[in-house]
Amino acid sequence: MRNRRAVLAGATSLVLALSACALSGGGESSSSKAGTVGIAMPTRTSERWLTDGKSIIDDLQAKGYKTRLVYGGDNPEKQASQIASLIKQDVDALIIAAIDNKSLTDVLQQAADADIPVISYDRLILGTKNVDYYVSFDNEQVGRLQARYIIDKLGLEDGKGPFTIELFAGSSDDNNTRYFYEGSMHLLQPYLDSKQLVVQSGQTRLDQITTLRWDGPTAQKRMTSILGESYSSQRVDAVLSPYDGISIGVLSALKSDGYGSDGKPLPIVTGQDAELTSVKSIIKGQQSQTVYKDLRELADVAATMADDILNDRRPRVNDRYSYNNGVKVVPAYLLQPETVDKSNYEKILVVGGYYTAADLN
Ligand code: GAL
Repeated sequence: MRNRRAVLAGATSLVLALSACALSGGGESSSSKAGTVGIAMPTRTSERWLTDGKSIIDDLQAKGYKTRLVYGGDNPEKQASQIASLIKQDVDALIIAAIDNKSLTDVLQQAADADIPVISYDRLILGTKNVDYYVSFDNEQVGRLQARYIIDKLGLEDGKGPFTIELFAGSSDDNNTRYFYEGSMHLLQPYLDSKQLVVQSGQTRLDQITTLRWDGPTAQKRMTSILGESYSSQRVDAVLSPYDGISIGVLSALKSDGYGSDGKPLPIVTGQDAELTSVKSIIKGQQSQTVYKDLRELADVAATMADDILNDRRPRVNDRYSYNNGVKVVPAYLLQPETVDKSNYEKILVVGGYYTAADLN
């Protein structure tokens, strides 16, 4: 099960030379050489990471692997020591969703020294050569879908406005934050320039709007203070939120401020991850939108990649140039996200089997 590093080096250069559709193993599993895969997830507090962990385990076990799954409690040092301990336990490959994308350099050197391949899961690990592949969604597209929703619902393309908007971003130590923000701002900036959209708080730079560890209560506090300082005499019409946990915090602040009544309707509030609480909130007419990412597919891609690497097959990638982690361009497989609101949640989430109708009651 070891000695993959040489294979990987060869595979990586071959991947670079091959077209995006040069595939290998596909969904085929090969359990003949199965070993143990270590999986490090960031936190149990968000439902999505529980789904990710469970789905990766199911997929790997179906391919004959043993698995060791750990959750880092949103603490970067804890996650690094969990990974060190997985390495000591002799895992054959690692699938890691980093908490702080720059805090794993030392421990990933230990993984490389032990010839353990590393798949960066959902969040790109930065600043090290010791990350072999990246699996995620098209993260700029996530931001574009959120912005597009706001643009359509406010009728900005028809020249309507001015409207007020507040902007929230994710954790500053998560590489995805930048992609979500850039995707959204690419579409929103022309309307900020034309003053059809006005950020009443004045907070538009990424460093002014991040939310450490994607924490809902932190977002709630910031929204409360923005409402107090900048909205005493007018309403907020839209809130760009990058993630459902942040949307829930924002909605709590809005409701405490009297929004959600006939005279003071809730603003448009976006989100991401189609978490159960948020989908229920969408059905109730509170949160407006979320971005659905089928985590079952993401898990399947990661498990298939690990299986391919461990069986000397070239993993499938569909992006060989976009994801530079500061030290190398990491070959990536990206899935497509979808926008979900009250009008299509049944078709996408229920018919698609992500939730049952009973889950959403
Ligand atoms: C991001 C991820 C989002 C969301 C967020 C908070 O890295 O891409 O989907 O889950 O973390 O957990």
